[in-house]
Amino acid sequence: PAPTPQYRPAYHFSPAAHWMNDPNGMVYYQGTYHLFFQYYPDGMVWGPMHWGHATSADLVSWKEQPIALYPDSLGYIFSGSAVVDAKNTTGFGKNGQVPLVAIFTHHDPKGEKKGTDTFQNQSLAYSLDAGKTWTKYAGNPVLKNPGIHDFRDPKVSWNEVAKKWVMTLATKDRITFFSSPNLKEWTKESEFGQKLGAHGGVWECPDLFPMTLNGKTYWVLLVNLNPGGPNGGSGTQYFVGNFDGKTFTPLTTDTKWADYGPDDYAGVTFANTGNRRIFLGWMSNWEYANQVPTAPWRNATTVPRELGLQQVGAQLYLTSQPAKEVARLFPAATTLKDVVVKKEIDLTPRLKNVGDKFQLKISTRQLASFSVVLANGKGEAVVIGYDKPTNKYYIDRTKAGRTDFSPKFAGRHTAPRLAKTTEADLTLLVDATSVEVFADKGLTVMSELFFPTQPLSKLKLQATGNFTVQELSYANLAPKPSS
Ligand code: FRU
Repeated sequence: PAPTPQYRPAYHFSPAAHWMNDPNGMVYYQGTYHLFFQYYPDGMVWGPMHWGHATSADLVSWKEQPIALYPDSLGYIFSGSAVVDAKNTTGFGKNGQVPLVAIFTHHDPKGEKKGTDTFQNQSLAYSLDAGKTWTKYAGNPVLKNPGIHDFRDPKVSWNEVAKKWVMTLATKDRITFFSSPNLKEWTKESEFGQKLGAHGGVWECPDLFPMTLNGKTYWVLLVNLNPGGPNGGSGTQYFVGNFDGKTFTPLTTDTKWADYGPDDYAGVTFANTGNRRIFLGWMSNWEYANQVPTAPWRNATTVPRELGLQQVGAQLYLTSQPAKEVARLFPAATTLKDVVVKKEIDLTPRLKNVGDKFQLKISTRQLASFSVVLANGKGEAVVIGYDKPTNKYYIDRTKAGRTDFSPKFAGRHTAPRLAKTTEADLTLLVDATSVEVFADKGLTVMSELFFPTQPLSKLKLQATGNFTVQELSYANLAPKPSS
């Protein structure tokens, strides 16, 4: 296919060429954020998985690095995590070096073909040069499959209560927790979720981490699943509860979603970021990820998101907001106050240089139906709005340009408004082919792809009645400083 540079995101990571899916092994170490990712370097569709690698000092400008892990006799390198083994519990560190340790799934395609249930096992690799090069552990696999068809995506962290490593593993229709003193020997602790949450598909890529709200510590369990997401295909649900080092106990039994849009999947959080909890997802959906019309690469990540907790009524919700590093990409904003919308107002002339890579913030003190329209001169548009009668946010990409590559792509996707306030605020991050919407301080989030045949560089507001935006601030992506 012909290259599509016009579809290349500027501040989201995408590989220079070829296929990517899940972010893997995200870890911060000695001033560098490491992002590994499911990568197939020989094609533009999913294939034998490697761990690609990219690094960043600021979470938003990424430099692609050589491939970190190649498939081997034990199989493809599926998703997993990485930790800083500061106490050298593994003994991989020599002469006081701190090992970085990757814990990943070895997926044996031969065993899968033969119809066995034991083809996914957990393995280790370590780096003694701060993440540059990796050596696979000679004793792999370290956690053998007991006969569970889907047994993968280990997310490991040091648990201060148990004084052990805890592995959160996706095991088909539930999460299984294991513990280990040294990352090499694992003991099963408990299972969670067989009868809780969404089960429209297989559970994948979990994460477990503590978060503090009003001085109290809660544990958040992220569980990706595919299919069965809130708008079809892949999605990320979560549970808020307690974890005593062995067992996870949820506060409530309902299903909550970290992102309601169709295009945020397999997201988990960085290790070793202190009090910050930074999440990054794969900005695609298994329904059409192999077909999106980009070349010579396929797929990208979401922006890094800072997670929080917020109480609304009796419920505790996870909030996601763009990490503060994202705001620095948009230093020069044009601010408009008290913008009155009667049916439709085209803001393009007032904002002058509307582009297709920008941040838009709007706030209103009046909760009424309204929409933000990103359009071009060819009648293509992405419509992002709030619908008062149903109390839902939505994104409609039905007429957003190319949708022919998959019957699953076109559509209008909705998300409940969870906030109970009468003011609303929206932050939109647009990057050529994607919009990420953070509503009500991150209580409702939607990520969505689109592929216009010309850039969507017109910006309009629409409302059914009289509607006032108290403040609107628009900022184009700052040009990259030339080096
Ligand atoms: C999620 C996933 C993981 C698996 C990886 C394979 O998107 O299916 O469960 O490890 O992708 O590429």
